[in-house]
Amino acid sequence: MNISVIGTGYVGLVVGACLAETGNTVCCADIDRQKIERLKNGEMPIYEPGLDSLVERNQKEGRLSFTTELGDAIEGAEVVFIAVGTPQGEDGSADLQHVLEVAAVIGRHMRREMVVVTKSTVPVGSSAKIEKAVATEAKFPFHVCSNPEFLKEGAAVDDFMKPDRVILGVESVHARRVMTELYAPFVRTGKPIVLMDISSAEMTKYAANGMLAARISFMNEIANLCDKLGANVDSVRKGIGSDSRIGQSFLFPGPGYGGSCFPKDVKALVRMGAERGVRLDVLAAVQSANERQKQILLEKLRCALGKDLHGKRVALWGLAFKAGTDDMREAPSLTLIDSLISEGVSICAHDPAAIGHARGLLGNRIDYAETNYEALAGADALVVVTDWNEYRHPDFERVKRTLKAPVIVDGRNLYDVEKMRELGVRYYSIGRPSA
Ligand SMILES: NC(=O)c1ccc[n+]([C@@H]2O[C@H](COP(=O)([O-])OP(=O)(O)OC[C@H]3O[C@@H](n4cnc5c(N)ncnc54)[C@H](O)[C@@H]3O)[C@@H](O)[C@H]2O)c1
Repeated sequence: MNISVIGTGYVGLVVGACLAETGNTVCCADIDRQKIERLKNGEMPIYEPGLDSLVERNQKEGRLSFTTELGDAIEGAEVVFIAVGTPQGEDGSADLQHVLEVAAVIGRHMRREMVVVTKSTVPVGSSAKIEKAVATEAKFPFHVCSNPEFLKEGAAVDDFMKPDRVILGVESVHARRVMTELYAPFVRTGKPIVLMDISSAEMTKYAANGMLAARISFMNEIANLCDKLGANVDSVRKGIGSDSRIGQSFLFPGPGYGGSCFPKDVKALVRMGAERGVRLDVLAAVQSANERQKQILLEKLRCALGKDLHGKRVALWGLAFKAGTDDMREAPSLTLIDSLISEGVSICAHDPAAIGHARGLLGNRIDYAETNYEALAGADALVVVTDWNEYRHPDFERVKRTLKAPVIVDGRNLYDVEKMRELGVRYYSIGRPSA
């Protein structure tokens, strides 16, 4: 099929590359000239494992191309995906400005019957607005489809190629036929394509993110209570996770959720409720619990180094909001860094992928290290913020030697408490006994 993907960010680039991988001809368009220029020159604008080789191969074989001319991308397409950003508006709702701009451009440039697919996360009811914006200029029949994306940054290619499910909100026979055909290669192992009406598809995305954010905040609060009561959240997690109604995933406590989705989607969901007079008290509490949790590493540092942190130096391992990505949007590291700087703490940070973005956001407010060990030099404590694989088994003797004092605050519970005790490390993690 001839496909066009408008918006070539974390989602659009993965969607475009994966659809090209199954033989489609895909043109990815974006208004960001620099991004498109880099992609044309074989350079990746984002870090996402496995994506570079997919882009390179499909580009070389002529199935994947990039342009800043949205009209050119749209003209020959049978299916056009809208994958532009839907940032948080001032009142907490999702800002549809970019989506609706693109919808109007689609209407203006379509030259055949087509399916217009909303991949961006948009509030329930947005498809009607998108349909109206396309229709204003369209001279050919078109069919709207809501196809929310569930990929996780850091595992995005795998998630798209082998999805747990594909959600399709379709209300025409044509859209259903085209979209199920397009997704058939990705669900050959029997994972479902769940067909539903468009509003329910839009709602499914928010409900999924709301549920996942709630699990995280719930476990963070349970971990904080474990801390005070002398229980170990690792045992509690295993204990509850083996209940098939609960399951093991998404039960790890940490320094709060971040990223481009959970914070803004939970806010948008609460806003949708407020607009309709429906209270979403659980999700409102999820948000405030998360804001509080972003201070947890500062509190742990105070336990480790004393109340007055002025003049201390801290090494941070990890800046990205999670492992496997260079994305710093709403990263807990940013909240921690702000607090530490305002307390007069100096910081040296390492991250395997996000240093470039961090420099753009933080400039020279902190120091940056080439290697994780380099960050430790002269530091009073190490704080592990992101659970990158390479931080899981460091050379602890080297860590101890390089730090001023053997103090580790672990925001991801990566290390064994008993081992830390044996090594003589003063060790603070989340919801587990200190060493
Ligand atoms: N990042 C994720 O993990 C994820 C997962 C699922 C869903 N989503 C949703 O997918 C959407 C995109 O997210 P993202 O993380 O890829 O965002 P992003 O910011 O990485 O990418 C958006 C891209 O759209 C481009 N753009 C903006 N306006 C445009 C226009 N008028 N025409 C063409 N291009 C335009 C931007 O230049 C940018 O490259 C959002 O609605 C997000 O909520 C994101």
